Amino acid sequence: MAPSITEIAYRTLQQGRSLAGLVHKELSTKVMEAVAPDVVPQTQPVPAEMMNALRKSLDALQDRDWKDAAAGIYPQSLLFDIPWLEWAERYPRVWLDLPSNWSRRRARDVQDLPDLSNRELYPEYYLQNFHHQTDGYLSDHSAELYDLQVDILFNGAADAMRRRIIPFLQAGLKHFSNRNPGSLRILDVATGTGRTLHQIRAALPTCTLIGVDLSEAYLRQANRWLNQNRSSLVQLVQGNAERMPFDEGGFQALTCVFLMHELPAEARQAVLQDCYRLLEPGGVLVLADSVQLKDSPQFDVAMDNFRRVFHEPYYRDYISDDIDQRLLDAGFCNLQAESHFMTRVWCATKPDSGTK
Ligand SMILES: C[S@@+](CC[C@H](N)C(=O)[O-])C[C@H]1O[C@@H](n2cnc3c(N)ncnc32)[C@H](O)[C@@H]1O
Repeated sequence: MAPSITEIAYRTLQQGRSLAGLVHKELSTKVMEAVAPDVVPQTQPVPAEMMNALRKSLDALQDRDWKDAAAGIYPQSLLFDIPWLEWAERYPRVWLDLPSNWSRRRARDVQDLPDLSNRELYPEYYLQNFHHQTDGYLSDHSAELYDLQVDILFNGAADAMRRRIIPFLQAGLKHFSNRNPGSLRILDVATGTGRTLHQIRAALPTCTLIGVDLSEAYLRQANRWLNQNRSSLVQLVQGNAERMPFDEGGFQALTCVFLMHELPAEARQAVLQDCYRLLEPGGVLVLADSVQLKDSPQFDVAMDNFRRVFHEPYYRDYISDDIDQRLLDAGFCNLQAESHFMTRVWCATKPDSGTK
């Protein structure tokens, strides 16, 4: 069957975003080489066959994204839902931010953070300039640039990767299909600026959505993003994902996107355990994070380059970590996992009397 106009529009848009991401990365590297050659990271050259494999897996992700939208798993409008005006206004600030990024790299300073009156709220591992980002996760400036920077990093595919959690989430919630959908509560752990909740709300508009994150600034940005129109309100709560400020068993589903690789191993386990505590028996946890060496060995150079270019102190440990075992150790069962482009998605259930 010939592709519809909407499908052609989606594919053209994605090609444009992918190209824009590549051009930005190429240009900013050239500028760094010219202006700050001493801080250019030592990366490994990406072999041609890996470039091809990356391109193919990006195409496969987009095929799957299109098919799921066409099948009504989420609305097609979500595929075009990009805050163009905000991003256009913020893009020059991504460039203006580069010199301070280079000077932190030069000084090997990864703890250049704003003064905090409530330092005790944050675990030590959190108080760093992840990605060499100005202010780490601790300012409005950082929160305003984050979505755009992530979209550039993943060549326009960040939301398509986040959407891979939705089919698992919908399948998991079928366990509670005898309930009023409005009574189902979904918690997004480390919600950041709310892009994941935005995708979930479009797919599951009747569920009650809550987001938790340590960063007040990121939650403020999420609030601006999510709660400005007439869609159902999302509750946003500041808290540490290792000990979340909610009662046991109060959620039917939890999601957690791009957090695991930013945590030391013990914190990773503590987060999974706290997710288990918060789920009602029969509830589902859907995690998405970077692919790992075991499931995507063909992308090993890309993974290694990622940690060399960005300050990601726990990434090397994460890509060799056994998340399946961690989920089992936390008590989960019915594990499933899939890889799509640069993301791995896990789905796991908290056993109830009917699950083994
Ligand atoms: C890479 S961002 C991912 C944000 C979002 N899930 C997304 O899809 O873009 C990591 C987020 O985790 C949050 N974070 C890191 N450690 C945390 C912790 N221990 N508890 C709660 N949030 C944490 C950061 O503040 C940041 O918003």
